[in-house]
Amino acid sequence: MIEQEKEKKMINDSRRGFLKSAAIGSALVVGAEMSPIAAAFADEIPKVTYTGGYKAGTAVQELELLDLVEIEQRAAKVIPKGGFGYIAGGAGDEWTLRENRAAFERKQITPRVLTGKGAVDLRAEILGISIASPIIVCPMGGQGLAHVTAEAGMAMGAAAGNTIMALSTVSTLSMEQVAAAAGGPKWFQLYLQTDDGVNRDLLRRAKAAGYKAIVLTVDSTATGNREADARNNFTFPLPFGNLVGKGSGGNIHALNASFAQKIDAKAIEFVLTESGLPVIVKGISSPDDALLAIRAGASAIQISNHGGRQLDGSPATFTVLPAVAKAVDRKVPIILDSGIRRGQDVFKALASGADIVGLGRPAYYGLALGGWKGVHSVLKFLNRELSMVMQLAGAQTVEDIKRTNLA
Ligand code: FNR
Repeated sequence: MIEQEKEKKMINDSRRGFLKSAAIGSALVVGAEMSPIAAAFADEIPKVTYTGGYKAGTAVQELELLDLVEIEQRAAKVIPKGGFGYIAGGAGDEWTLRENRAAFERKQITPRVLTGKGAVDLRAEILGISIASPIIVCPMGGQGLAHVTAEAGMAMGAAAGNTIMALSTVSTLSMEQVAAAAGGPKWFQLYLQTDDGVNRDLLRRAKAAGYKAIVLTVDSTATGNREADARNNFTFPLPFGNLVGKGSGGNIHALNASFAQKIDAKAIEFVLTESGLPVIVKGISSPDDALLAIRAGASAIQISNHGGRQLDGSPATFTVLPAVAKAVDRKVPIILDSGIRRGQDVFKALASGADIVGLGRPAYYGLALGGWKGVHSVLKFLNRELSMVMQLAGAQTVEDIKRTNLA
């Protein structure tokens, strides 16, 4: 109990610290950091037991960050080579991985300096959930690869940052362990399995554990050719908490074989009916797929190419965003991920039709280097960069960003 009080105090202190450091010039940044934490941490944080010599990060500390690009090289010193290759790598030549970044560089933000606007308000909302800023944490598998607290640490970091964390089907810890570790809004990501009994069971458990929506990932009917994994002879050193006793064990190939190899509108309807929760369809790059998903009942679309890990040679998500947004025509919210590293990227995505962005690898690296505090540091850093960009571009609110035309 005393420990829990200490954690709460620490988290509230760190919020106050952010508030101070987030003040840009004389302007105040308004975000959910101003409110007390909505989500308490559990007395005891679950920890992963490693076997076979694998050893991940154990530090729980705030991070001094220069940017969210250099954090990758820092994380490489903490995460064993095979695990790091799995996290950082993309498919094939990694062209799409690079293009996800390059596409943002081809658009510019025009400074607006005489609008007389001061205070910047980062707050956003998605599917009825109020969040600190338009940045959420993407589902990413096997977070025990990075840190001993795995997805519990990620969930705590996201809760501390007052945002949503999506939990992967292939998480190290089980969805029940993660839900118990930290309050705060969470979504459950589903990789449809060939066995509908397993799908039903996962969806039922997610709802019972309090997950607020299902993120149905549709871009993984085959696994991308991640050459780093082949080079490193990487095999997953940890079991997948949600799938224990369900056949695949820790073997990633056996697991991939259990993933559904075709997904269509019927599958979306199945997930909707079975879960009784809103469904976000993740992994969309084409306007036609977006419309198909909406017609099947999707509550939101997540434009994603899995961080360049699936179809190498596919366009950057930022490239396809305007066409998908035009087709969606505001019928449902759009989340965009893949390549978000800077406040500028968030701004450009929102100005081009996205409502929210998803952060992938940088959150994983924050976890490796600093546990929940590292994740929180990464979120604070990106929020701070976004508020600076907004200030210099004359956008006071997220809605202002959406009305901005890029050059
Ligand atoms: C992922 N991603 C992912 N997506 C998903 O729907 N389920 C999953 O289990 C995983 N697992 C996963 C593991 C790792 C190590 C990474 C890096 C990514 C994709 C993820 O949700 C997101 O789409 C990308 O990470 C976004 O790109 P950036 O921000 O990493 O460039």
